[in-house]
Amino acid sequence: MPMQITKAVFPVAGMGTRFLPATKANPKEMLPVVDKPLIQYAVDEAISAGITQLIFVTSSSKRAIEDHFDKNYEMESELERRGKQDLLDILKGILPEGVSCVYVRQPVALGLGHAVLCARPVVGNEPFAVILADDLINGNSKPCLGQMMDVYKELHASVLGIERIDPGMTQRYGIIKTDGGNNRVFNVNGIIEKPHPDVAPSDLAVVGRYLLRPEIFGFLEKTERGAGGEIQLTDAIAMLLKEQAVVAYEFDGKRFDCGDKLGYLKATVEYALNHAELGDAFREYLKSKIGDLGNAE
Ligand code: UTP
Repeated sequence: MPMQITKAVFPVAGMGTRFLPATKANPKEMLPVVDKPLIQYAVDEAISAGITQLIFVTSSSKRAIEDHFDKNYEMESELERRGKQDLLDILKGILPEGVSCVYVRQPVALGLGHAVLCARPVVGNEPFAVILADDLINGNSKPCLGQMMDVYKELHASVLGIERIDPGMTQRYGIIKTDGGNNRVFNVNGIIEKPHPDVAPSDLAVVGRYLLRPEIFGFLEKTERGAGGEIQLTDAIAMLLKEQAVVAYEFDGKRFDCGDKLGYLKATVEYALNHAELGDAFREYLKSKIGDLGNAE
Protein backbone atom coordinates (compact mmCIF):
# COMPACT_ATOMS: atom_id res chain seq x y z
CA MET A 1 0.00 0.00 0.00
CA PRO A 2 1.47 3.43 -0.92
CA MET A 3 2.65 5.43 2.11
CA GLN A 4 2.08 8.79 0.46
CA ILE A 5 -1.49 10.12 0.20
CA THR A 6 -2.00 11.59 -3.28
CA LYS A 7 -5.76 11.26 -3.81
CA ALA A 8 -8.47 13.47 -2.32
CA VAL A 9 -12.22 12.93 -2.52
CA PHE A 10 -14.47 15.99 -2.62
CA PRO A 11 -18.08 14.98 -1.95
CA VAL A 12 -20.09 17.71 -3.66
CA ALA A 13 -23.32 15.88 -4.44
CA GLY A 14 -25.41 17.24 -1.54
CA MET A 15 -28.45 19.37 -2.26
CA GLY A 16 -27.40 22.46 -0.28
CA THR A 17 -30.95 23.09 0.92
CA ARG A 18 -29.84 25.58 3.58
CA PHE A 19 -28.79 27.95 0.83
CA LEU A 20 -31.89 27.85 -1.36
CA PRO A 21 -32.73 29.59 -3.63
CA ALA A 22 -29.02 30.37 -4.35
CA THR A 23 -28.31 26.64 -4.74
CA LYS A 24 -31.26 25.74 -6.96
CA ALA A 25 -29.18 25.78 -10.13
CA ASN A 26 -25.72 26.62 -8.75
CA PRO A 27 -23.66 24.26 -6.61
CA LYS A 28 -23.18 25.38 -2.99
CA GLU A 29 -19.47 24.67 -3.45
CA MET A 30 -19.28 27.34 -6.18
CA LEU A 31 -20.40 30.13 -3.81
CA PRO A 32 -17.53 32.63 -3.72
CA VAL A 33 -15.83 33.86 -0.58
CA VAL A 34 -14.66 37.27 -1.83
CA ASP A 35 -13.36 36.17 -5.26
CA LYS A 36 -12.76 32.42 -5.11
CA PRO A 37 -15.33 29.63 -5.01
CA LEU A 38 -15.39 27.47 -1.87
CA ILE A 39 -14.36 24.39 -3.84
CA GLN A 40 -11.20 26.13 -5.03
CA TYR A 41 -10.12 26.96 -1.47
CA ALA A 42 -10.54 23.23 -0.71
CA VAL A 43 -8.62 22.16 -3.81
CA ASP A 44 -5.78 24.65 -3.10
CA GLU A 45 -5.51 23.25 0.44
CA ALA A 46 -5.33 19.69 -0.93
CA ILE A 47 -2.69 20.53 -3.53
CA SER A 48 -0.55 22.33 -0.95
CA ALA A 49 -0.65 19.09 1.09
CA GLY A 50 0.72 17.01 -1.82
CA ILE A 51 -2.52 15.78 -3.41
CA THR A 52 -2.23 15.21 -7.17
CA GLN A 53 -5.55 13.53 -8.01
CA LEU A 54 -8.82 15.30 -7.24
CA ILE A 55 -11.87 13.04 -7.17
CA PHE A 56 -15.17 14.92 -7.20
CA VAL A 57 -18.33 13.04 -6.26
CA THR A 58 -20.95 15.04 -8.09
CA SER A 59 -24.59 15.07 -9.10
CA SER A 60 -26.49 16.42 -12.09
CA SER A 61 -26.77 19.98 -10.75
CA LYS A 62 -23.01 20.34 -10.17
CA ARG A 63 -21.70 20.71 -13.71
CA ALA A 64 -20.35 24.19 -12.96
CA ILE A 65 -17.66 22.51 -10.82
CA GLU A 66 -16.40 20.51 -13.82
CA ASP A 67 -16.36 23.66 -15.93
CA HIS A 68 -14.46 25.56 -13.25
CA PHE A 69 -11.58 23.08 -13.28
CA ASP A 70 -11.61 22.67 -17.07
CA LYS A 71 -9.72 24.82 -19.56
CA ASN A 72 -11.69 27.71 -21.04
CA TYR A 73 -9.93 28.24 -24.39
CA GLU A 74 -12.23 31.03 -25.50
CA MET A 75 -11.70 33.13 -22.37
CA GLU A 76 -7.95 32.45 -22.33
CA SER A 77 -7.42 33.48 -25.94
CA GLU A 78 -9.54 36.60 -25.46
CA LEU A 79 -7.52 37.62 -22.38
CA GLU A 80 -4.33 36.93 -24.29
CA ARG A 81 -5.53 39.10 -27.18
CA ARG A 82 -6.23 41.92 -24.70
CA GLY A 83 -2.83 41.49 -23.02
CA LYS A 84 -4.35 40.71 -19.61
CA GLN A 85 -1.51 38.53 -18.36
CA ASP A 86 -2.45 38.89 -14.67
CA LEU A 87 -5.94 37.51 -15.29
CA LEU A 88 -4.55 34.75 -17.50
CA ASP A 89 -2.24 33.69 -14.68
CA ILE A 90 -5.21 33.49 -12.32
CA LEU A 91 -7.06 31.21 -14.76
CA LYS A 92 -4.02 29.01 -15.39
CA GLY A 93 -3.33 28.73 -11.67
CA ILE A 94 -6.71 27.11 -10.94
CA LEU A 95 -5.34 23.67 -11.76
CA PRO A 96 -1.54 23.44 -11.66
CA GLU A 97 0.31 21.10 -13.99
CA GLY A 98 0.57 17.54 -12.72
CA VAL A 99 -2.81 17.66 -10.95
CA SER A 100 -5.70 15.72 -12.51
CA CYS A 101 -9.45 15.64 -11.92
CA VAL A 102 -11.82 12.66 -11.95
CA TYR A 103 -15.60 13.00 -11.69
CA VAL A 104 -17.81 10.28 -10.25
CA ARG A 105 -21.57 10.56 -10.01
CA GLN A 106 -23.58 9.90 -6.85
CA PRO A 107 -26.95 9.14 -8.43
CA VAL A 108 -29.00 9.76 -5.27
CA ALA A 109 -27.93 11.89 -2.28
CA LEU A 110 -27.93 9.04 0.24
CA GLY A 111 -25.45 10.71 2.56
CA LEU A 112 -21.76 11.49 3.00
CA GLY A 113 -20.80 7.86 3.63
CA HIS A 114 -22.48 6.80 0.41
CA ALA A 115 -20.79 9.65 -1.49
CA VAL A 116 -17.35 8.49 -0.28
CA LEU A 117 -18.18 4.89 -1.24
CA CYS A 118 -18.96 6.08 -4.79
CA ALA A 119 -15.28 7.09 -5.09
CA ARG A 120 -14.00 3.60 -4.28
CA PRO A 121 -13.28 2.49 -7.87
CA VAL A 122 -11.03 5.54 -8.36
CA VAL A 123 -9.34 5.50 -4.95
CA GLY A 124 -8.60 1.76 -4.97
CA ASN A 125 -6.55 0.23 -2.18
CA GLU A 126 -4.82 3.43 -1.05
CA PRO A 127 -5.14 5.80 1.88
CA PHE A 128 -6.93 8.97 0.78
CA ALA A 129 -8.20 12.34 1.94
CA VAL A 130 -11.82 13.51 2.17
CA ILE A 131 -12.44 17.25 2.12
CA LEU A 132 -15.80 18.96 2.58
CA ALA A 133 -15.51 22.28 0.80
CA ASP A 134 -18.22 23.93 2.88
CA ASP A 135 -15.91 23.74 5.90
CA LEU A 136 -13.52 26.53 4.99
CA ILE A 137 -10.42 26.33 7.20
CA ASN A 138 -7.81 29.03 7.55
CA GLY A 139 -4.82 27.14 8.95
CA ASN A 140 -2.38 29.01 11.19
CA SER A 141 0.97 27.23 10.99
CA LYS A 142 0.09 25.61 7.63
CA PRO A 143 -3.11 24.52 5.85
CA CYS A 144 -5.23 22.07 7.85
CA LEU A 145 -4.80 19.06 5.52
CA GLY A 146 -1.01 19.55 5.53
CA GLN A 147 -1.04 19.47 9.35
CA MET A 148 -3.02 16.22 9.23
CA MET A 149 -0.62 14.71 6.67
CA ASP A 150 2.20 15.21 9.16
CA VAL A 151 0.24 13.15 11.71
CA TYR A 152 -0.48 10.44 9.13
CA LYS A 153 3.18 10.20 8.12
CA GLU A 154 4.07 9.52 11.75
CA LEU A 155 1.27 7.14 12.75
CA HIS A 156 -0.07 5.59 9.50
CA ALA A 157 -3.52 5.58 11.07
CA SER A 158 -6.69 7.26 9.82
CA VAL A 159 -6.81 10.88 11.01
CA LEU A 160 -10.01 12.86 11.66
CA GLY A 161 -9.90 16.67 11.73
CA ILE A 162 -11.58 17.86 14.92
CA GLU A 163 -12.54 21.08 16.67
CA ARG A 164 -13.70 21.80 20.22
CA ILE A 165 -17.27 23.06 19.97
CA ASP A 166 -19.88 24.59 22.25
CA PRO A 167 -21.21 21.50 24.13
CA GLY A 168 -24.76 22.57 23.30
CA MET A 169 -24.13 22.10 19.57
CA THR A 170 -23.25 18.37 19.48
CA GLN A 171 -26.39 17.52 17.48
CA ARG A 172 -24.83 19.10 14.40
CA TYR A 173 -21.65 16.99 14.32
CA GLY A 174 -19.97 13.61 14.61
CA ILE A 175 -18.55 13.57 18.15
CA ILE A 176 -15.58 11.49 19.27
CA LYS A 177 -15.01 9.57 22.48
CA THR A 178 -11.42 9.68 23.67
CA ASP A 179 -9.29 8.70 26.64
CA GLY A 180 -6.98 11.62 25.92
CA GLY A 181 -4.02 12.50 23.81
CA ASN A 182 -1.23 14.99 23.47
CA ASN A 183 0.11 17.55 21.01
CA ARG A 184 -3.39 17.95 19.50
CA VAL A 185 -3.58 14.20 18.67
CA PHE A 186 -6.30 12.16 20.43
CA ASN A 187 -6.93 8.41 20.43
CA VAL A 188 -10.44 7.76 19.17
CA ASN A 189 -12.28 5.07 21.18
CA GLY A 190 -15.72 5.77 19.80
CA ILE A 191 -17.61 8.13 17.53
CA ILE A 192 -21.28 8.99 17.24
CA GLU A 193 -23.19 11.08 14.72
CA LYS A 194 -25.24 14.04 15.98
CA PRO A 195 -25.69 12.98 19.64
CA HIS A 196 -27.90 14.97 22.02
CA PRO A 197 -25.71 17.09 24.37
CA ASP A 198 -26.86 14.93 27.34
CA VAL A 199 -25.30 11.81 25.85
CA ALA A 200 -22.43 13.27 23.80
CA PRO A 201 -19.13 11.59 24.76
CA SER A 202 -17.14 14.87 24.47
CA ASP A 203 -17.19 18.33 22.94
CA LEU A 204 -14.72 17.29 20.21
CA ALA A 205 -16.46 17.45 16.84
CA VAL A 206 -15.32 16.03 13.53
CA VAL A 207 -15.19 18.70 10.83
CA GLY A 208 -14.80 18.31 7.09
CA ARG A 209 -11.27 16.89 6.88
CA TYR A 210 -10.42 13.18 6.97
CA LEU A 211 -7.44 11.01 6.08
CA LEU A 212 -8.73 7.49 5.75
CA ARG A 213 -7.18 4.11 5.24
CA PRO A 214 -8.84 2.13 2.44
CA GLU A 215 -10.29 -0.48 4.83
CA ILE A 216 -13.03 2.12 5.43
CA PHE A 217 -14.67 1.07 2.14
CA GLY A 218 -15.46 -2.43 3.44
CA PHE A 219 -17.25 -0.88 6.40
CA LEU A 220 -19.07 1.68 4.25
CA GLU A 221 -20.51 -1.20 2.25
CA LYS A 222 -21.99 -2.62 5.45
CA THR A 223 -23.23 0.72 6.79
CA GLU A 224 -26.99 1.06 6.98
CA ARG A 225 -28.92 4.31 7.00
CA GLY A 226 -28.32 6.15 10.26
CA ALA A 227 -28.93 9.70 11.54
CA GLY A 228 -31.24 11.64 9.20
CA GLY A 229 -31.90 8.47 7.17
CA GLU A 230 -28.47 8.90 5.51
CA ILE A 231 -25.52 6.53 5.13
CA GLN A 232 -23.13 8.17 7.55
CA LEU A 233 -19.34 8.15 7.20
CA THR A 234 -19.26 8.41 11.02
CA ASP A 235 -20.96 5.02 11.39
CA ALA A 236 -18.37 3.34 9.14
CA ILE A 237 -15.54 5.00 11.12
CA ALA A 238 -17.14 3.60 14.32
CA MET A 239 -16.70 0.10 12.84
CA LEU A 240 -13.19 0.81 11.50
CA LEU A 241 -11.86 1.91 14.87
CA LYS A 242 -12.80 -1.44 16.39
CA GLU A 243 -10.27 -3.07 14.03
CA GLN A 244 -7.48 -0.50 13.72
CA ALA A 245 -6.23 2.68 15.37
CA VAL A 246 -7.99 5.91 14.42
CA VAL A 247 -6.77 9.24 15.75
CA ALA A 248 -8.28 12.70 15.83
CA TYR A 249 -6.27 15.86 15.26
CA GLU A 250 -7.28 19.24 16.68
CA PHE A 251 -6.06 21.45 13.85
CA ASP A 252 -4.39 24.80 14.41
CA GLY A 253 -6.56 27.33 12.61
CA LYS A 254 -10.04 28.75 12.25
CA ARG A 255 -12.98 27.00 10.61
CA PHE A 256 -15.98 28.63 8.97
CA ASP A 257 -19.11 26.58 8.40
CA CYS A 258 -19.96 27.92 4.96
CA GLY A 259 -22.84 25.46 4.54
CA ASP A 260 -24.67 27.76 6.94
CA LYS A 261 -25.61 31.34 6.03
CA LEU A 262 -24.18 32.98 9.15
CA GLY A 263 -20.93 31.00 8.91
CA TYR A 264 -20.65 31.97 5.25
CA LEU A 265 -21.09 35.66 6.08
CA LYS A 266 -18.44 35.45 8.82
CA ALA A 267 -16.01 33.84 6.36
CA THR A 268 -16.69 36.55 3.81
CA VAL A 269 -15.94 39.30 6.34
CA GLU A 270 -12.73 37.65 7.62
CA TYR A 271 -11.37 36.81 4.17
CA ALA A 272 -12.25 40.29 2.88
CA LEU A 273 -10.40 41.89 5.81
CA ASN A 274 -7.33 39.79 4.99
CA HIS A 275 -7.55 40.34 1.23
CA ALA A 276 -4.41 41.94 -0.24
CA GLU A 277 -6.26 44.41 -2.49
CA LEU A 278 -9.54 44.94 -0.65
CA GLY A 279 -8.57 44.56 3.02
CA ASP A 280 -7.83 48.20 3.86
CA ALA A 281 -10.84 49.67 2.06
CA PHE A 282 -13.14 47.03 3.51
CA ARG A 283 -11.83 47.68 7.05
CA GLU A 284 -12.60 51.38 6.64
CA TYR A 285 -16.08 50.55 5.38
CA LEU A 286 -16.75 48.22 8.32
CA LYS A 287 -15.57 50.85 10.79
CA SER A 288 -17.97 53.42 9.34
CA LYS A 289 -20.77 50.85 9.35
CA ILE A 290 -20.14 49.99 13.00
CA GLY A 291 -20.20 53.72 13.74
CA ASP A 292 -23.63 53.94 12.06
CA LEU A 293 -24.90 50.95 14.07
CA GLY A 294 -23.67 52.58 17.29
CA ASN A 295 -25.53 55.79 16.46
CA ALA A 296 -28.72 53.87 15.71
CA GLU A 297 -28.81 52.26 19.19
P1 UTP B 1 -24.30 18.60 4.14
O1 UTP B 1 -24.72 17.90 5.35
O2 UTP B 1 -23.80 19.98 4.28
O3 UTP B 1 -25.52 18.53 3.11
O4 UTP B 1 -23.22 17.67 3.43
P2 UTP B 1 -25.86 19.40 1.86
O5 UTP B 1 -26.89 18.66 1.10
O6 UTP B 1 -24.65 19.78 1.07
O7 UTP B 1 -26.46 20.77 2.45
P3 UTP B 1 -27.85 21.09 3.21
O8 UTP B 1 -27.71 20.54 4.59
O9 UTP B 1 -28.98 20.46 2.42
O10 UTP B 1 -27.91 22.59 3.18
C1 UTP B 1 -21.85 17.72 3.76
C2 UTP B 1 -21.04 17.46 2.52
O11 UTP B 1 -21.31 16.17 1.99
C3 UTP B 1 -21.75 16.24 0.64
C4 UTP B 1 -22.25 17.68 0.45
O12 UTP B 1 -22.12 18.08 -0.90
C5 UTP B 1 -21.34 18.46 1.39
O13 UTP B 1 -20.11 18.78 0.79
N1 UTP B 1 -22.80 15.23 0.42
C6 UTP B 1 -23.80 15.10 1.31
C7 UTP B 1 -22.74 14.42 -0.71
O14 UTP B 1 -21.82 14.54 -1.55
N2 UTP B 1 -23.71 13.49 -0.89
C8 UTP B 1 -24.72 13.32 0.00
O15 UTP B 1 -25.57 12.42 -0.22
C9 UTP B 1 -24.78 14.15 1.12
